[in-house]
Formats: sequence, structure tokens, C-alpha cells
Amino acid sequence: MTKQFKRTTVTSALPYANGPVHIGHLAGVYVPADIYVRYLRLKGEDVLFIGGSDEHGVPIIIKARKEGVTPQDIVDRYHTLIKDSFKDFGISFDVYSRTSSKTHHGVASDFFKTLYDKGEFIEKESEQYYDEEAGQFLADRYITGECPHCHAEGAYGDQCEKCGTSLSPLDLINPKSAISGSAPVLKKTKHWYLPLDKHEPWLREWILENHKEWRPNVYGQCKSWLDMGLQPRAVSRDLDWGIPVPVEGAEGKVLYVWFDAPIGYISNTKELLPDTWETWWKDPETRLVHFIGKDNIVFHCIVFPAMLKAEGSYILPDNVPSNEFLNLEGDKISTSRNWAVWLHEYLVDFPGKQDVLRYVLTANAPETKDNDFTWKDFQARNNNELVAIYGNFVNRTLVLTHKYFEGKVPARGALTEYDQTTLQEFTGVKQQVEQLLNNFKFREAQKEAMNLARIGNKYLADTEPWKLAKTDMERVGTILNIALQISANLSIAFEPFLPFSSAKLRGLLQLEAWSWENLGSLDLLATGSTIAPAELLFEKIEDAAIDAQMQRLANIKVENEKQAYQPAAVKEATTFDDFMKLDIRVGTVLECQKVPKADKLLQFKIQDGMGTRTIVSGIAKYYNPEDLVGKQVCFIANFPPRKLKGIESQGMILSAEDADGRLVVISPSDKVTNGVSVC
Ligand code: MF3
Ligand code: ZN
Repeated sequence: MTKQFKRTTVTSALPYANGPVHIGHLAGVYVPADIYVRYLRLKGEDVLFIGGSDEHGVPIIIKARKEGVTPQDIVDRYHTLIKDSFKDFGISFDVYSRTSSKTHHGVASDFFKTLYDKGEFIEKESEQYYDEEAGQFLADRYITGECPHCHAEGAYGDQCEKCGTSLSPLDLINPKSAISGSAPVLKKTKHWYLPLDKHEPWLREWILENHKEWRPNVYGQCKSWLDMGLQPRAVSRDLDWGIPVPVEGAEGKVLYVWFDAPIGYISNTKELLPDTWETWWKDPETRLVHFIGKDNIVFHCIVFPAMLKAEGSYILPDNVPSNEFLNLEGDKISTSRNWAVWLHEYLVDFPGKQDVLRYVLTANAPETKDNDFTWKDFQARNNNELVAIYGNFVNRTLVLTHKYFEGKVPARGALTEYDQTTLQEFTGVKQQVEQLLNNFKFREAQKEAMNLARIGNKYLADTEPWKLAKTDMERVGTILNIALQISANLSIAFEPFLPFSSAKLRGLLQLEAWSWENLGSLDLLATGSTIAPAELLFEKIEDAAIDAQMQRLANIKVENEKQAYQPAAVKEATTFDDFMKLDIRVGTVLECQKVPKADKLLQFKIQDGMGTRTIVSGIAKYYNPEDLVGKQVCFIANFPPRKLKGIESQGMILSAEDADGRLVVISPSDKVTNGVSVC
């Protein structure tokens, strides 16, 4: 039995304000949440859509330290960028605020205090790593060392990125502080813990018994957490960025970021609706829905509900639609490796094409398993679906209406059997799409909407009104009336998915009254009403644009491979005397040219301080000869001369071999006198 609700509070995970947002964020959380919210609004339901930036946590502190700025500088920069990206893509938040706001600090602090006063926490002392030079406790990410499993250097206190194992700082071999580089010492510290073990019984019942309808990936993850047995979780940290723990004796301690961030949903509601926010969080007739990515499941299904329950006056989420991950061209999206399509960059390359990305991300939504975004698929879905089906149908309808009826909606006469069958296919669609959307099946719902356009496209192709124009104008009128009504329906059906195109289409059709209720109606456009001149809804995307994107990714791959370069093992020991036997000198390139019939070789004439000498070097693939003229290079002056392609080479030019095999000539960083030694 489904419960009846009066209103819906929809939240979407608060992204960390330590980088811009990319297609993975959009596909995983924000597009599905926005589709859902737009759909509910279109149905006339009472709904509130909450978003905001998550501005605490260690990664933000580390980034600030690296750049030599404050954490506030970092979050100010990215909060604005993220907020603008969401706006640009039509993510229709009722409020988008941030966890560094005053309101949030107040709400989160009070929330902690309430739980503290009710005795809902346990206090525990434990030993944690402390950096004596820096005078502070070290968060897991601030400690590096050797991985106990794969023995890679540079593993973090919470995870080894080489072998993927989760670690605790105490597991690391030879731990080092990432702040001062010194070896940290263990020191006692006190923290507050939420005793999740105590909450386990009701959580089991609430999720495993009462919410079997949750997506299998969500339900399954919860079940495995519960079956492993819940442990108390620390809700405070020794850090200086965050919300101070509001109790005595807690100097230098802040709320753990995962304690304060979900409370941000509540604070942002309060910021928007200072007088009525409680209705959206405490009235049992309000339905709460959290849209998140799969790495957030435990926090939204177990930890946050336990916090809400412990507080006592809040409702619990009714559903937590969580997506799996979206990959990019077969590889995991990664902010640190720049392996992403950034939303603000997409808009520079594809201005005005927000809906195309929304469409492709929903068509490939990682609803049940990880999925892949590829640029070829992006192009194909645009050209073969948006342009060839939806856009083409609408365009033909508009153009023909102008051609035969001066842009006025023609009258609909008697319907043929074929008309009837077409329209029948149509009437079931509303219910179908609705049922899919109610069950968070956005990918299939969008497919149904596209099927409507397919039906329309086929209808025009089969009835061929352009062939009847000479003989039976009344019939042409009927066909175009039906095609126009289908177009109007498309603008409604696609509104949750492709809001920009729907708005444009409504403008073209001059459609004024429209709501979800009207979907399936054949009388959306009155006979005789005017439509605007035809304009394309979607444009073809050419190969060049796709090739440019693929090239960009290929370049990033090369860069990343270089960064992952493993230097060769150090050679066996040598001596200074041995080194001094090599006579390395600096000279200036006077002439440089390709050696005929040798694609690798360049022939140099070098001014070496005593005169000139000829050197042949195998770097032709990496340089234009003219670019080297005038440059100073280092060369070995005491190799015995040898012949290469008939030319006597009097030495060897030194170069470094880059990770990708490219040879780069070694030059002194300032100009020096020709002939001087390198030592
Ligand atoms: N910032 C978190 C992430 O990107 C999500 C926080 S969701 C909230 O994974 F509930 F805590 F707000
Ligand atoms: Zn490891």
C-alpha cells in the first residue's frame, strides 16, 4: 500500500566545493532529481528542491594548503562555479546555498547540541597520530606511508590508491605527516560517537522490512552494512576548518563533515523558508526523497536517518534513489586526473546544447549498473534521435503548416482507421511515463517520450500529406492537425527531460495552457490559432566537433601516463673520477639539417669555442631543424669520431628521454660561453 503525501521534499547530494562539477555529477544525481522535480511541479504537486555546496572536509583544507590560500577562498571559488553550472543546465533548485553559511552553522550546531543534551552520543578517548612540529592532530588523509599490503609508498591513512585497500592510519608502515614531513606520534584525544549499534534494530526493520521497494543496489548495500553489524561512528574531528563542536572542552574540534553536510539540506530549507521550513521536514504528510550517488548510500540510508531519529522530531526518507557511476570513454571519472567532461567547459564547446547532454546522460543513466559516456554515442544520440526523430518530426509539421495553411492550425475532419490506431498508441503513453517516473526509472521514461516522437514521425511518413496537397486539402488539414497536436504533446512529455527544447517548442506552437494533465489530449491547439515560423529544435553535430573532444581526452591520457612514470632503478655505483672521464661541454648550434634518407637523424654544426664540429644526432622526429639553430646544447666532446650515413660525427648531443619516449635536448638554463665544461 502506498501512503498518500501532501508534499515532497527533494534533496540532491551537496557536491564538495573543491572542484567544478562534471558529467558524472549531472548523470548520477542532478539530472534525475531535476526530472523528478519538474515532473511533480508539472502535475501541480507541492514540491521543494534543495541543493547546495558541501564546504567542509579535509580535501578542501589540503587543496587550500597546496595553493597557499584559505579554505574559504577555495569554497568561494567553486561554490560560485558549481552554482552557475547547475543554473546553466536548468537544474531547477528552489534554493542552492552552502554549508559555510551562518544559518547552516547555527542549525548544525543546535542539532549536535540537542543530541548531546539528550545523551545520544558516547564520548571516547582514543590514540591518534599527532604532528608535534605542526602542533596538530592529523586527519587520515594527512598521513602517508608504506602500504602494508602492496608495499607501495605514499599510501594514505584511509586508503592505498595503488591497490585500493581501505586502511586505518595505524596500518601504515613508516607513517609520515603530510604537513611537516615528520614522523607523527600517537596522542590521546576525545571524540563524540553516534552509537549506530544501538540504532541497528529499528534500522533493520525500517529498511529491510518496510522499504523493499528501494532500488536493488540501495537495498543491497544497506543489507550488507546491517549484516556486518554497525559500529559507533565518530562525529567530531580535530581540525580547524568546520563547525566548532558546541560543548565545553571541545576546543580545536569540529563536527565531522558527514555529520554537518546532510543537515545542510535542513539549513538550506530554513534559509529559503524561515517560517515554514519545519513543514518540509517534520510533518508526517511530507515525503522526503534523497537523490545521491552510490558512494553516499550508507550516509543517507543509515547514518543520517539515525541522526534524525535520535533528534526525534524529524521525518525519515521515503526513498533514496541512488545511481551507480558513470565512466568516461571506459575509464573512471577522476577530478585529480582531469578525466572528466567539465560542465562549464562543455558549454564553451557546445553553447546552447544543454538539452543534448541532459538527453544523452539520461539515455545512458547508470541506474542499475555503472555506465559509459562516449563522445561517439553522444553524437549518435543527437544526430539519430534528437535531430532525426524528434526535431525532424516537429520541423516537418511546422514547415508544412506554413506551406499549406499560412501558419494556422487547420481543422481536423473525419479520422481514418490509421489515424485512430496512431492516436491509440498515444493515449497509453501518459500512464506509462507516469508510472516509470513514479518509480524513478528515468531512462525508460525518456525512451517512452521519444517513442511518442517516433510515432509522430512514422505518421507523417506513412500519410505523406505533401502528396495529397493537390487533391485533398481537407485530408492534409486533418493530418497536420494531428501532427501539431502530437507536437504539443511532445513539448509536455519532454518538459521534465529537455526543458530548454520544450520551452522553445511551446513558443513555436504558441502553446499557452499546458500541464501534465493535458498530456494525451488531442485539443491542445485550437483550430485557427497561429504558430510561429519554423525553427530547428536540434542541430546535427559534425565529426570535427567530436574529434576535437576525443583529441582533448587523448592528450590528457598522455599527460597522465607521464605523471604515472616510474623512474628506472638507479644504476650500480660509480665514482667521481669515472664521471670526470667524460668531457661534457656546451656549444651553440650554428646549422642544423635533416640527413637525407635517414628519418631519425639530424646533422649539426656546433660552435664549440675552439672552432666548429659536426655532430649527428637521432632526434629528427622531435624537432624542426630550424628551431634548434641558435640554441646552446650539451655534448660529449671526447667520444671517438664515428660515421653515420657517411657523415663523421664528432661527439654526442645530450638529451632527456621523456616518459612517452620523446627526446628533449639538454640546454644550460642561462647562456654560457661556448666550450665551457659541464660538471
Ligand atoms: N559532498 C558529498 C559528496 O560529494 C555529498 C554530501 S551529501 C550530504 O560525496 F548529504 F552530505 F549533503
Ligand atoms: Zn597498497
